Amino acid sequence: MKPIVLFVDDEPNILQGLRRNLRGMRGEWDMAFANGGAEALEYMQAARVDVVVSDMRMPGMDGARLLAEVAARQPHAIRFILSGQVGHDEAFRLIGTSHQFLAKPCDTEVLLASVKRALALRDLIADEGVQSLVSSLRELPTPPDIYDELVHELQLPEPAVHKVTEIVARDIALTTKVLQVAGSGYFGVGEKAASLLQAVARLGVERVRSLVLTHGIVARYEGPKVGGVDLDGLWAHSVTCGGLAQSIAKDAGLDDKAAENAFVAGLLHDIGALVLAANQPEKYEAIVAVSHCEDIARLEAERQALGASHARVGAYLVGLWGLPDIVVEAVAHHHTPCDCPGRGFDVVTAVHVAEGLTQAHEWTGPDEPLEKVLDFEYLAAVGVADRLSGWAELLTGMGQERDCA
Ligand SMILES: [Fe+2]
Ligand SMILES: [Fe+2]
Repeated sequence: MKPIVLFVDDEPNILQGLRRNLRGMRGEWDMAFANGGAEALEYMQAARVDVVVSDMRMPGMDGARLLAEVAARQPHAIRFILSGQVGHDEAFRLIGTSHQFLAKPCDTEVLLASVKRALALRDLIADEGVQSLVSSLRELPTPPDIYDELVHELQLPEPAVHKVTEIVARDIALTTKVLQVAGSGYFGVGEKAASLLQAVARLGVERVRSLVLTHGIVARYEGPKVGGVDLDGLWAHSVTCGGLAQSIAKDAGLDDKAAENAFVAGLLHDIGALVLAANQPEKYEAIVAVSHCEDIARLEAERQALGASHARVGAYLVGLWGLPDIVVEAVAHHHTPCDCPGRGFDVVTAVHVAEGLTQAHEWTGPDEPLEKVLDFEYLAAVGVADRLSGWAELLTGMGQERDCA
């Protein structure tokens, strides 16, 4: 069955243009065009849509209100918001219901690529049982509202550090996290950032964006634990893994962009576990218990109980949020890098090593056999098995990170 993509706009000529420009996709998608929110919701009464792309500014029901309705009525649907008037605080506060933000005017090619990518991600994970699992989740988390503002800032030719700082400063908990991460050993040993502005400048806008995303998702949940997952522990683990993945990538000679992607993927690698735990807390608590007591890898326990792993669910979400493909891959394969053979050392390797070293250190101390958490056959094939002890030493600067929790 072909997926249904619903486009919503209040201007008939824009819908006409879309109809014309997207004609070539008829073989792959069923497309519907609604003139405004009310018409879209009426259409959805009779049809299960897969993707909704809505304009923000519409009279009556605006795009944010419509997508909130879509989220309530058909939570599995992937939601895109198109907006021209961005940067206004009020408008942005309304956008927490979309999975991805597209700036207007949006090139047909960009729109096409975004929708294609979202659907392809879904297909990619179909075999793993993730699709049915994801469809059954009560909700697919959306990035926090201020994340959209940062995405907009990043789309400008020269993202302004002071503007990013202003956005981050509105959230006290987030400000604390950014200061702590910027002051950690991975970004200039021993130097504490004197101000938020300095911290943002040191981290760079991309890293700040991924911190905002991760913090926003973790902060949605209340209490110390969700479905057996310790939230503070998960945050500390994620930050350490991100920082270590970045250091390893640099040490192995990858360029700055790749090191940045390693940080982002390391930060987000376990986000799928949180989503699974939040949506199926009892089942997930049992999975955590089984994987501890019986020493079965959590991945295997997840596959047995839920039909899919946190790695695949996380990759799906990270892709849905529009992060680069290499980040999606690194999240998908952080426990199983052998699924990406024959490529040499890359971001996937850096994140796998960082995850293994961090996990071994956190759970059981440095004496735990690393074979349990690292794929030595893969690491030997990539030619880096002999560098593990050096990379493990990078963890010494981790104490400061731990204080973040
Ligand atoms: Fe992990
Ligand atoms: Fe993991």
